[in-house]
Amino acid sequence: MSLLEVEGLVKRYPVRQGFLGRAREWFTAVDDVGFTAERGETLALVGESGAGKSTTGRLILRLVEPDAGTVRFDGVDVRALDQPALRTLRRRMQMIFQDPYSSLDPHLPVGESVAEPLHVHFGMSRGERLRRTAELLDVVGISHDVLERYPAELSGGQLQRAAIARALTMKPDLIVADEPVAALDVSVRAQVLNLMLDLQRELGLTYLFITHDLSLVEVIADRAIVMSGGRIVEQGRVEEIFENPREDYTRELLAAIPRPIPMSLRGPAPQPPAVPADVPEQPLARVEAGKD
Ligand SMILES: Nc1ncnc2c1ncn2[C@@H]1O[C@H](COP(=O)(O)OP(=O)(O)O)[C@@H](O)[C@H]1O
Ligand SMILES: [Mg+2]
Repeated sequence: MSLLEVEGLVKRYPVRQGFLGRAREWFTAVDDVGFTAERGETLALVGESGAGKSTTGRLILRLVEPDAGTVRFDGVDVRALDQPALRTLRRRMQMIFQDPYSSLDPHLPVGESVAEPLHVHFGMSRGERLRRTAELLDVVGISHDVLERYPAELSGGQLQRAAIARALTMKPDLIVADEPVAALDVSVRAQVLNLMLDLQRELGLTYLFITHDLSLVEVIADRAIVMSGGRIVEQGRVEEIFENPREDYTRELLAAIPRPIPMSLRGPAPQPPAVPADVPEQPLARVEAGKD
């Protein structure tokens, strides 16, 4: 059984509220989207801005309600769950956003934001929380002194690492990462991608990696789904899509990638699991950012 099975998802938004609620027009943001994600794989969801990628991600976590379709997570129909059951299941599906500020409370020290789910969901004592939070900071490669600092005092890379640490507190199986490195500097981008790959290997995570940037897909994903105008236009193994794109739309996306592809990490290059990055933020050997 696949970890995630999505079938016939549809989401419409009203574009114009007619006078007294009449003559409504609807815009279909996600139109009959279906795919599966296997345990431990990275499935990329690619397409231009407005293609319906983020909406698809939110539909999977039921952060927005679909107009049609089903999402089965580990065999469970997500739509059939009541609120308590949904809350429990949602721990296993975490979302990471382009803007890591959105995952961290600006008014709380970062350590408290990271530790919060340990209290809320697992009822851990303060001592246990502190210990686990410190462990998680080690896992994502940021130093413990960020515990006391506020989000505004951290770099973009540190913030995204902290957001990842917070997501990991819930021991997720699936992480829906919506443009997780789009807002980061190129060198930091490589580090965060490497961290995600390391965590995947260590923890067996499944990623739905949402991006408009096909060059990242080749670096991180096993399979890709190409979306345009709310619909899936193509899906397959990344190598196949890159070597033999079937759709004009995919070809255009591919043509927009600067050649040679600025990052490459396919192939064996074992690394220690946690990336001891923090400062200084420099590209790692494995994902080499942006030369030439
Ligand atoms: N809450 C909303 N209300 C109205 N329209 C929306 C809403 N969310 C998304 N849309 C529209 O749906 C389309 C797909 O959006 P989105 O899923 O964010 O695309 P992507 O992530 O691929 O850029 C866009 O045209 C967007 O304007
Ligand atoms: Mg988006």
